[in-house]
Amino acid sequence: MPVITNIDDLKAIYRRRVPKMFYDYAEAGSWTEQTFRENSTDFDKIRLRQRVAVDMTNRSTVAEMAGERVAMPVALAPVGLLGMQHADGEIAAARAAERFGVPFTLSTMSICSIEDVAENTTKPFWFQLYTMTDADFVRRLMERARDAGCKTLVITLDLQMIGQRHKDLKNGLSAPPKPTLMGWLDLATRWSWGLGMLGTKRRAFGNIVGHVQGLDDPSRLYEWTAKQFDHSLDWKKVAKLIEMWDGKVILKGILDPEDARMAVKVGADAIVVSNHGGRQIDGALSSIRMLQPILDAVGGEIEVHLDGGIRSGQDVLKALAMGADGTYIGRAYVYGLGANGEQGVISALEVIHKELDTNIALCGRRKVSELDRDVLLIPEDFEGRWQ
Ligand SMILES: Cc1cc2nc3c(=O)[nH]c(=O)nc-3n(C[C@H](O)[C@H](O)[C@H](O)COP(=O)(O)O)c2cc1C
Repeated sequence: MPVITNIDDLKAIYRRRVPKMFYDYAEAGSWTEQTFRENSTDFDKIRLRQRVAVDMTNRSTVAEMAGERVAMPVALAPVGLLGMQHADGEIAAARAAERFGVPFTLSTMSICSIEDVAENTTKPFWFQLYTMTDADFVRRLMERARDAGCKTLVITLDLQMIGQRHKDLKNGLSAPPKPTLMGWLDLATRWSWGLGMLGTKRRAFGNIVGHVQGLDDPSRLYEWTAKQFDHSLDWKKVAKLIEMWDGKVILKGILDPEDARMAVKVGADAIVVSNHGGRQIDGALSSIRMLQPILDAVGGEIEVHLDGGIRSGQDVLKALAMGADGTYIGRAYVYGLGANGEQGVISALEVIHKELDTNIALCGRRKVSELDRDVLLIPEDFEGRWQ
């Protein structure tokens, strides 16, 4: 592996190693991709205050997220199909998170099953739930997660319907990949990816295949899941799900202060300010722009986390200094996973940790808990005036 100094280095290797279909799946937003782009570019508008002659010894990035001690407040976000980015990708990412000391969130739409990941790790991971029309299936998923030792449930609320990502339609995305001529040509040039895939049996949606009746053909899974997402999900149903779970519940996909208040009302332990990495609604404001209004609405009653657009430790620093209690990375660790499996995810976490730790110090602080708005320079019109 060449020397990795930043997340873009991992992205370049990832792009060479992984079939185009799966690179495109990750590196896309919905429709015009405006929200996807602005999630990242809005971080650049915030600047840091350089402070000097402050004792920088005894620094620490240790914090808590949802009652768990973490090496830094950066969790791995739930990402579907990790096992297509790298053989057994969910296991590799979960192991990396465990080694580093940050939470790993397993997606409902994972390739490795809940049980697979539990068998190959030693610490509890977080489980992300999509709500489906089949209430019985949802209940069984929650039971399986509980039996596998999961204590924290992340319920994703911003995907009742799928936002269109043009490239997935054009590439005919499927898991496992369907054998088209172009597809085979592309796969043939990604031999290390292909060898890994030949060496594993885990190539379809592990949480679903074998647990749902009448679904024997894995290539029909996309169709099935598109039909299965619960269009009728409302706050009453969310409250019921929270009641059913004996542990912490994090509601993911909150981008509006009124929804944040509802999350407090139904008893969530935390929320994730998120627009699904710009993959769902297109044209909404970025997560970092919506953070302050949501923090104001929540008023410290529950934890507020953020994801979307984080590609560096400086981005993490900005979110924390603005008031977030924790952050998540999605694509930043997918790049690492595709580039070099478990070790690649460790590389991504190391890059972000080093950037976070050093820049906290250069802001004149020693701990994440010492970060506040005073270290930030935020343009007066950052949140914008909208009516
Ligand atoms: C390829 C991909 C797949 C994703 N799959 C899921 C998923 O299964 N469940 C979910 O709640 N969020 C999913 N997300 C959204 C992430 O959890 C997270 O919100 C997003 O990646 C954050 O933005 P970032 O990638 O810019 O860090 C996915 C994101 C990507 C990029």
